[in-house]
Amino acid sequence: MKISHVLSTRQFADPSILQRLFELSLEMEKNVVNEKLFPVLNGKVMATLFYEPSTRTRFSFESAMNRLGGRVISTEAAGHFSSVTKGETLEDTIRIAGNYADVIVLRHFEKGSAEKAASVSRVPVINAGDGPGEHPTQALLDMYTIWREHGRMDKLNVILMGDLLYGRTVHSLIQLLSIFPQNTLTLVSPPTLKMPESYTQILREKNISYTETDTLPQDLSSVDVLYVTRVQKERFADENEYLRMKNCCNVDETILSRLAPNTIIMHPLPRVGEISPAIDADPRAAYFRQAGNGLFVRMALLELLFQKRSLEQKTLVMGEKGFW
Ligand code: CP
Repeated sequence: MKISHVLSTRQFADPSILQRLFELSLEMEKNVVNEKLFPVLNGKVMATLFYEPSTRTRFSFESAMNRLGGRVISTEAAGHFSSVTKGETLEDTIRIAGNYADVIVLRHFEKGSAEKAASVSRVPVINAGDGPGEHPTQALLDMYTIWREHGRMDKLNVILMGDLLYGRTVHSLIQLLSIFPQNTLTLVSPPTLKMPESYTQILREKNISYTETDTLPQDLSSVDVLYVTRVQKERFADENEYLRMKNCCNVDETILSRLAPNTIIMHPLPRVGEISPAIDADPRAAYFRQAGNGLFVRMALLELLFQKRSLEQKTLVMGEKGFW
C-alpha cells in the first residue's frame, strides 16, 4: 500500500499494514529519544490548514515535519485568517495551497471535507478531523499506544465511553479495532450520544462482539483499555442539551479502584472534566503518553508519504544515523 491521501482509517484496515506502520513509528520514537537527526524531508513543505482549534494534532504534525527536516506554513484559524472570509471555497483554497505545499493537513468542521479537499488536490491531503466524521491519524496513534502498552492489538477487552455520536476519534478507532477478530467492545454512552449505526454495522460485518449500554459495567476487572471521550460541545445545537450530557461519563478514583492493574485509561484530549486530575499520576493513566505518541506516528506517516517505500516493504535498512 502506498499512502497518498489519508482520509479514513478504512485505508489501514489490515493488521500487517498497521504492524508495519507501528514498527516504523517505533523507529521514529527511538530516533527522537536518542536525538538522532534524519532530515529526509529536507526541501518539502507542509501546509497546516485548520478551520477548528487544535493543540495536539497541529503541534505534533508541525513538530514531525520540522524534525524530518521539512518546513511548515500554517493557518490555525483558517475561517478567520484566510481568504475564506472573502467567500473562497474550500476547494479553491486547497487548489491554491497545493501550489505552495507538498502536503496539506486539514482540519475542518464539516464531515466529508477531507474527501472533498482530496478530490481537487494535486498534493496529498491528511484528514486532521472532519467535523463529527473521522480523525484517522488520532486513531493510528491510539492503536500505536495500545500496541506499545499491551504489546498486542488483538484479544483486547475495550470500553469506548462518552460522546460516541460526535466523537470522531472513536469513529476512526472502532474501524481499526474491528480488524482484529478477537477484540471485544463495550460502547458506553447516553442513549442520545450512541455510536452511529454505520460504525456498529462494521462491527457486525466483521463479527466483532460488542454491547451498547448507558452505564459503565460493574465488573471492570478484565478491561484492557478504557477509552474516554469528551462530550463535543461544539456539535450541539442546544447548549442546555450539552449541559445535561457533559458529565455523563467521568472517570475518578472510585472507577480507577475497580480497574485491573494493567488496564490503561486513554483519552484523545482535551479533557474537560471527564478524567479527574487526581488519577494522572497512576501508571494506568496513559493519556499523556498517548498524546506524546502522536509525534512518532505522524513522523512515520509523513516519511512514508514522501519516501518511495510502501507499507508492505518489510525490510528497513538500519544505519548508524537511523533506519534508512
Ligand atoms: N486529540 C486531538 O485531536 O487534540 P487537538 O484537538 O488538540 O488536536
